[in-house]
Amino acid sequence: MAKATAPKVLLGVTGSIAAYKAAELARRMQKKGWDVWVVMSACATQYVGPLTFRALTGHPVAHGSFAEREPETYTHLGLSEGAAAMVVAPCSAQTLARLAHGFADDVLSCAALALAAPLLVAPAMNTRMWKNAAVQANVATLKQRGAAVIPPGIGELACGDAGAGRLAELEAIVQAVAQAIGER
Ligand SMILES: Cc1cc2nc3c(=O)[nH]c(=O)nc-3n(C[C@H](O)[C@H](O)[C@H](O)COP(=O)(O)O)c2cc1C
Repeated sequence: MAKATAPKVLLGVTGSIAAYKAAELARRMQKKGWDVWVVMSACATQYVGPLTFRALTGHPVAHGSFAEREPETYTHLGLSEGAAAMVVAPCSAQTLARLAHGFADDVLSCAALALAAPLLVAPAMNTRMWKNAAVQANVATLKQRGAAVIPPGIGELACGDAGAGRLAELEAIVQAVAQAIGER
């Protein structure tokens, strides 16, 4: 459970087959004593349900686009307010592009834009997608703006291919967030 003074950490979950790992990531971040809030892309909800994250974190889970529905006014602003960091894990190629180009077409991307704290992304995708020049240019853009890119691991991928593109180890992601918020 989060401590009274717990740093608020936003966990963005996007449409990657690695989305199921984000549930365990949320647990591990909670074990650090952080107050974890989850925001999902609409696509991510096809891979894992918001209820899972709601049950784990005890917080409502914002997801989707404003066009679909907007249950609470200014959800994206409330989410990012007071956040110590936001980590998008897994971060799809699509969301990577969205963040690199400053798109604001869903609650996740708006929360990232309204963030006044470190942004971290942990990309996860097929190795051919990861190596694509457009993806690498988006990675470079985000880094240039000060975002931390947690590199994907190398190995067997869910699609059957092998190479770079696996979601980084959860412990590496937790460590990167800890460093970003000034914890060891
Ligand atoms: C089975 C399946 C697995 C996928 N896994 C990934 C993935 O690991 N990484 C990725 O970038 N896209 C993946 N995609 C494609 C994304 O789901 C798609 O680009 C989507 O538009 C991402 O949207 P979002 O960033 O808004 O969540 C996958 C698609 C399918 C059908």
